[in-house]
Amino acid sequence: MVFVPIDQLKEGMMLDRDVYLYDCKTSKVAMLRSGQVLNSAYIQKLNELHVLGAYIYTTKSDIDLEERNSPVRRELKEEAVSSVQQVFTMFHQAANQVSVSCIRQTMEVSKKLVTAMKSNREAKLSIANLKLYDDYTYNHSFGVSILSIAIGLALGLRTSDLYDLGFCALLHDIGKMDVPIEIIAKPARLTREEFQIVKQHPVKGAEFFHRHRLASPRICAGVLTHHEKFDGSGYPKGLKGEQIPLIGRIISVADVYDALTSVRPYRKSSPPAEAIEYIMGGCDNLFDTNVVEAFLKKVSPYPVGSCVRLSNGEIAIVVEQNENHPLRPYIRMINSPDRVLDLYRERELQHITVDGVCNIAAEETPNS
Ligand SMILES: [Fe+2]
Repeated sequence: MVFVPIDQLKEGMMLDRDVYLYDCKTSKVAMLRSGQVLNSAYIQKLNELHVLGAYIYTTKSDIDLEERNSPVRRELKEEAVSSVQQVFTMFHQAANQVSVSCIRQTMEVSKKLVTAMKSNREAKLSIANLKLYDDYTYNHSFGVSILSIAIGLALGLRTSDLYDLGFCALLHDIGKMDVPIEIIAKPARLTREEFQIVKQHPVKGAEFFHRHRLASPRICAGVLTHHEKFDGSGYPKGLKGEQIPLIGRIISVADVYDALTSVRPYRKSSPPAEAIEYIMGGCDNLFDTNVVEAFLKKVSPYPVGSCVRLSNGEIAIVVEQNENHPLRPYIRMINSPDRVLDLYRERELQHITVDGVCNIAAEETPNS
């Protein structure tokens, strides 16, 4: 199977997974089943509902990168995305009245995510692939939550802190439901005025939790500060350094990474390696260096076993990670498999970079 973006879906393609069609305005939920062959009406409906794409059946179905690399089961991921959808929709429709049971359900999801991440010590090998083929609207919240929990684990946070962190990350953008959908889904860069409106979403989200006493002050603080930057250049308050609570500093890194690796209405997604470079370049100006170091321990653009293309044109297999240097792993050349090479320490290799993953699922055509 392969994830096909909405603008590339064509009549005759067969779904390889169920698709949940979701309309915030009417609350109608319809569903297309795995095995359904797409026609123009279905594709048009998917477009209208801002679904970003669908999993399409391909003959090379033995390779399923998401399943192989995901640190959490697909069912748990769907439960997480569904609970975020519910809370966001209730916020949008019922004058900001979200039921306590709905919030509790999301808290329970956060606990399950923490448990899954704690029991999967190999999670760092796969996190970078979470977003490769999967860009449903609410998956951003899921991706930010998983990454935040992973960073929290690397920082040695207590389990109760991880629960709060995972929950806060799942709902960090709830204030965006107060931003007109025309701005959120605008297929171009925002104007200055539009950006001013978007910049209010951390305040709206924090006010919502505070007003309805639905979450602890720490969670409110995380929602409020997830767009603050370490050097004071962020919003809404321009806080600096440790004025920004740790929960906000963690979600900030996870949010930026997940946003960069997601398809946005006005741009394509960045490869994980580029996004990691951006995060590394933001140490001490945009991001807390301690948080970035924890992030680097948990994220790899080139999981062990992946086939990579080098800048000299050769193909290699990743055999081990380089702690703190995820862009320069240990590799085994396809042409000389007897020797393991260290891309970080071996001098004669230091001019060579990894250009990208050679990925059969990514490179095959959707209807092959
Ligand atoms: Fe945000």
